[in-house]
Amino acid sequence: MQSTKTEVTQFAKDVKTGLGKVPKSVPSKYFYDEEGDRIFQQIMEMPEYYLTRCEFEILEKQTKNILEAADTFQEPFNLVEFGAGDGFKTKLLLNYLVENNADFTYHPVDISASILQELKKDLDESIPSLKVDMLNMDYFAALHAMKNLNERRTVILFLGSNIGNFHYHEAADFLRKLANESKEGDMLLLGIDLKKDQKVIVDAYNDPQGITAAFNLNLLTRMNRELGADFRIEDFSHYTFYEKETGEVLSFLKSLKEQKVSVSSIDREFQFGKDEMIHTEISKKYSLKELETIAEQQDFEVINHFLDSKQYFTDTLWRIKK
Ligand code: AVJ
Repeated sequence: MQSTKTEVTQFAKDVKTGLGKVPKSVPSKYFYDEEGDRIFQQIMEMPEYYLTRCEFEILEKQTKNILEAADTFQEPFNLVEFGAGDGFKTKLLLNYLVENNADFTYHPVDISASILQELKKDLDESIPSLKVDMLNMDYFAALHAMKNLNERRTVILFLGSNIGNFHYHEAADFLRKLANESKEGDMLLLGIDLKKDQKVIVDAYNDPQGITAAFNLNLLTRMNRELGADFRIEDFSHYTFYEKETGEVLSFLKSLKEQKVSVSSIDREFQFGKDEMIHTEISKKYSLKELETIAEQQDFEVINHFLDSKQYFTDTLWRIKK
């Protein structure tokens, strides 16, 4: 999809700020243009990228336990999903709810109107009796919209370890806002990648086929196309490492030589030293202990951690205390 005018403007602004900083950075949300979405689909199929399969196993094998624990069969409710994507994993839950006559409306949230349209079309065909009401806005606007939906309880899905793109304090802030906009008894099902053997984690972000590298480098192609930049893709490489203490995988684009890059739409030139990095992503991993701490601090009660058989990933279910 072609970006809309406002997205490009925001993109330009964020690139201007990010490349002007020391160290340089560009926000990871800009990975997801049409090509980025396509490469991410490939990442999810890689043998090294265990996250998607682990979460699928949890949602597939423990569907009934998860949905009963979330009280979804007692009274009507809203099901709000942040970052719905292609709905591949969510359909496991949606199908079970519909088959068991739960009374609910599904509200997928996404800033991309085209992705929502595709999802709606797919759901209309695959689960015709499902009620779908899309929230085409960013996460923060959706938090607000959620409050004004109706009087029903809300169950929020935030799957796929997407919250891992935030540092700990940013995740805590987001959860605080979410709690503030929620009603007592609302629930959150949060999908999070867990801390584990370092090698398993590192391999998931540094595959030998170079798919993750292509995902990261696509950000340069996108800046070239949408912002009139002149990055030479071959003069940059994908670089990533895992910081055990914080549980953060940090990803970068490394300049392979001293060079200048101009970005015409913001009328700027940026100087790169040899080996200088652009920070592009954080993918934070949590321990169950850390999850319990963050939940408690932000006024959630942990109901249960649902885990896969390898204990690599959790879908953790929390209730909002008020
Ligand atoms: C979609 C943000 C969960 O951080 O694991 C995959 C994106 N980046 N490989 C992640 C990603 C590199 C992914 N999330």
